[in-house]
Formats: sequence, C-alpha cells, structure tokens
Amino acid sequence: MASYLQIADDEKGHELDLFCVPRHYENDLDKVIIPHGLIMDRTERLARDIIQDMGGHHIVALCVLKGGYKFFADLLDYIKVLNQNSDKSVPLTVDFIRVKSYCNDKSTNSVKVIGGDELSNLSGKVRLVFDIVETGRTMQTLLSLLSECNPKMVKVVSLLVKRTPRSSGYRPDYIGFEVPDAFLVGYALDYNEYFRDLSVSMKRMRTNMKQ
Ligand code: IMP
Ligand code: MG
Repeated sequence: MASYLQIADDEKGHELDLFCVPRHYENDLDKVIIPHGLIMDRTERLARDIIQDMGGHHIVALCVLKGGYKFFADLLDYIKVLNQNSDKSVPLTVDFIRVKSYCNDKSTNSVKVIGGDELSNLSGKVRLVFDIVETGRTMQTLLSLLSECNPKMVKVVSLLVKRTPRSSGYRPDYIGFEVPDAFLVGYALDYNEYFRDLSVSMKRMRTNMKQ
C-alpha cells in the first residue's frame, strides 16, 4: 500500500499570522494545516519513488485541472531534476484534462470531464496527477473513462487523500498526505474558484465566508 504523511485529526495547525497570507483572504481562513515547504519536500520524495518504479518506460503525465496544476508542475520539476542528474531517466510527455465535481464545499453526483478527446491519444504509461481524493468518485469516473482508451498502465498520484466516512475505499497509487475530514484550500485547491492563489494549504473557516 502507498505510504503517506498523515495529518492527525487533532492537528491544530499553525497560526495564520506566522505566514504570508494575502490580505484578501485573511478573514476567511482558520489555520495553516500544511505549510508550502512541507508540500514541496514530500513532493520531492514522491518524484523519487515514481522514477524508481518506472523502469525507463515512457510516461504520459496527465494533469487533472484545475486543482492539480500546482502539484503537477512541482512534481514534474522534481522528476526533471532526477532525469537530468541520474543514470536512469524516464521520457516524459504531458497532457491536461479538466474535471468538475464540486459545488461550494460539497461533492456532487455528476463528474464533468472537459478535454476528453485528448484521452483517446494516450499511449504508454499514464500517470494521473490529481489534487485531492475525498469520496474517490471523481477519480473512479476518470479511471473508467481512461480504461476505454486502453493505455498500457495507469497510475494515480494524489497530493491529498481525505479520511472520511464518505470514502468509496478508493486509494491512489501514490499519496502525498492523508488529511482529516475538513475542507482545505490553497496550493491550487479552491472553494468556488477562490484560494487557488494561495501558497500554503489551509483549513477554511466555515463561518463568515463571503460567497
Ligand atoms: P471526490 O470525487 O469526492 O473524491 O472529490 C474530489 C474532488 O473534489 C477534488 O478533485 C476537488 O476538486 C474537490 N475537493 C474535495 N475535497 C476538497 C477540499 O477539501 N478542498 C478543495 N477541493 C476539494
Ligand atoms: Mg474545486
């Protein structure tokens, strides 16, 4: 089973004013749960694990937009550094699709995929790079769409997996962090499109949130 860094349910997080938080978000956020530096350090290790497992095969790295874009870019940067500096290297191409499954802070039943025609061009080993798995529904829908295109192998890398009773039991192949059942924003994760422009991953305050 994939190893991960666990953030405990009673994790209090860090005070906001210890970090640089944009003024326009100050009143909407509670605590810093995962500082940006910790995300980067964990991502560096995921890159190493992925390269070790790939055995020189071609990777099509598929970024699931929008929430996955920061993680995708940082993970690929670390993979590129490894490719440049070690005897073993992995040919890499990139592709992008967009999914939408959330309304406010609730997962909805319909998972919308945009850019699906790109999927039919996938060959080689596909690695889906994803932001956060909550119920697992979005990822399971994507995987069943992908399987129709017969890629050689599909592996999922997810920055966050949420510990929640709503989980379908789906677990990605690589996991950055396992987090408590709270709504997190920042590092490209949004609440109704807000907070993507925030470096640190934070717990949102549910009260006095402006819509
Ligand atoms: P699932 O289908 O229930 O696994 O939900 C996964 C999708 O919901 C993710 O790709 C996110 O877009 C969104 N999501 C779930 N939890 C959060 C969260 O805590 N913050 C921001 N987005 C979330
Ligand atoms: Mg979202």
